[in-house]
Amino acid sequence: MKFETIFKNNEKWVQDKLKVNPHYFENLSKGQHPEFLYIGCSDSRVTAEDLMGVNPGEVFIHRNIANQVIPTDNNINAVIQYAVEHLKVKHIIICGHYECGGVKAALHPSDMGQLNSWLQTLRDVRRLHKAELDSIKDEHELFDRMVELNVKEQCMNVIKIDHVQRSWYKTGYPQIHGWIFDVRTGKLKDSGLDLEKEFMEIREIYDLKPLEGK
Ligand code: CO
Repeated sequence: MKFETIFKNNEKWVQDKLKVNPHYFENLSKGQHPEFLYIGCSDSRVTAEDLMGVNPGEVFIHRNIANQVIPTDNNINAVIQYAVEHLKVKHIIICGHYECGGVKAALHPSDMGQLNSWLQTLRDVRRLHKAELDSIKDEHELFDRMVELNVKEQCMNVIKIDHVQRSWYKTGYPQIHGWIFDVRTGKLKDSGLDLEKEFMEIREIYDLKPLEGK
C-alpha cells in the first residue's frame, strides 16, 4: 500500500460517515462515554475496533506488545486510572491472540535488547505455570496455552491495581474479562475465567481494602 493511499482512504471514510449522518463528527467532538477499556496486543493483525465491530467512541483502547499490564508502566497505569475514575468504564478487557510474536519470543529466550525487560513479565508467566507448560509436548499447543495463561495473568495484574480495587468494592465495576482472538479463524472467544474466584484465592496477598479502611 502506498503512503498517500492512507490520506485518500481517510477522505473517503469522512465522506462515507457524513453521507449517513451529516452531524457525525460534530457529535463525536462533544465527548466520549465508552463502557469498555480494551487492552490488546500491538500486532497489526489484531485490529481492536474491527474485530469487535464497534464504532468510534465506544471503546477506550490501549495496545502494547503482548497485552501486558506492568505495574511500573506509567502509560498503562494512566490509561487504566483514567478509564476507571473518569470514564467509569463497566468492563476492562484483556485480549490476547494466538500466534503472538511477543509470547513466542518469551518461549524462546534470547538477547533482544530493549525488549528484554518488556518480555520479562511474560517469562514470569511461564515460570508461574512451569509445571503445566512443561507437561505439554506439542509446540503449537504449548504456544496457545501460553497465550491463554498470559491473558489470565494480565487480568490478575489489573485486579491488583489500587484504583481498580477501589472502584470494584464501591460499585462492583469494572468487571474484568479475558479474551482470546484467533488470527487463524478471525474468531474472538471469552476465556471463561472466573476472575473474582481467582482473585479470592490470592486476596490475602493483593487485597488493598484493609489499607484503605484504616
Ligand atoms: Co501479539
